[in-house]
Amino acid sequence: MTRVKKLRYRSKLGDMPSYDVVEREWKVKVNANECGMNLPPMVEDRVMGRLSRVAFNRYPNEDLEQLMESIADNYGLQKENVLIGNGSSEIIEKLFFAFGGRNLTVVYPQPSFSMYHIYAKAAEARSVVVDLNKEDYRLNVREFIQKVNDSKASLAVVCNPNNPTGNALPLEDIENIAQHTSCALLIDEAYVEFYGQSAASLLKKYPKLLVARTFSKAYGLAAIRCGYLLGDAEVIAMVAKTFMPYHMDVLTLVTADTVFQMRDEYVPRIQQMIAERNRMSELYASLPGFKVYPSQTNFILVKYEKAVPLNEELVNMSIGVRSFGSAPGLENCLRISMGTRQENDQVFDAIKSFVEANQ
Ligand SMILES: Cc1ncc(COP(=O)(O)O)c(C=O)c1O
Repeated sequence: MTRVKKLRYRSKLGDMPSYDVVEREWKVKVNANECGMNLPPMVEDRVMGRLSRVAFNRYPNEDLEQLMESIADNYGLQKENVLIGNGSSEIIEKLFFAFGGRNLTVVYPQPSFSMYHIYAKAAEARSVVVDLNKEDYRLNVREFIQKVNDSKASLAVVCNPNNPTGNALPLEDIENIAQHTSCALLIDEAYVEFYGQSAASLLKKYPKLLVARTFSKAYGLAAIRCGYLLGDAEVIAMVAKTFMPYHMDVLTLVTADTVFQMRDEYVPRIQQMIAERNRMSELYASLPGFKVYPSQTNFILVKYEKAVPLNEELVNMSIGVRSFGSAPGLENCLRISMGTRQENDQVFDAIKSFVEANQ
């Protein structure tokens, strides 16, 4: 520490919060909303075949174009409407940078994806949060619109369905926000495959609308870091300026493109994850003292008075769920991602035993 004390870092970097996830070798890992299954065998064969033919000596260009075209085709858009990033994380971070800076304001609901706060700080933008209803985490759309307009925001963000609360806004509400605000509006759709209603259908009508998607969740590709942004070509071109040249690596591009081309293979899995979410929601709701929030995602948020000691017990058993400590609006809440059926049962049995022993 003392050896590097005199280095002059960017101002306020020391005050920046870090992404506070506790990671270790969990026996059951249901803390990051990942997919519990690796590649389907047919997809894996195709990915490995393509990877074996990669030109490692070349900067990745064609593979990027190919993925952009495949994605654009799927939405009836042009490749100029698509921006690929290292996970939707990179895309969201760059968007905050593009619409941030001193004197600019970003508005988003709270609780929502914790990184918005960090990206706003990194972009030196002011954050204005709109608190979700305490009882059911519903967003008051009128209040959101008013805060966006009153604060003269440059960017408004809605995570839909919302992480970590799991609930979703209908498209009419998204359209209402788009209609009654004038700034850039990002809809973060990291979990939309488990919900089914994407704001991508509104893109042609609202050029200020941007939709971020990821391969990390429903497509089980968290390891390759790939996401994309859909939007108006002019806006995409501006945001693209914030990326370094050749920012995507070829291994990611080839894998994501193969999975995207074979996305029909994923339909049964997504249905299975939704069925698990519904099954587990019912089971958790049957536990005394448990409040289960309705979810349109691959995770469930539960509230339980003894969530903190319960989480400690789960950690001791090497079961990793996401505990929110005293994060605003999430006191005594745990977020449990859906794993395989067997993993879900294991987590439930552990929680049930704790609840029964602590009544
Ligand atoms: C709401 C939301 N947006 C974006 C991300 C980032 O995902 P990735 O960078 O893996 O695409 C996550 C990850 O958990 C998320 O929950």
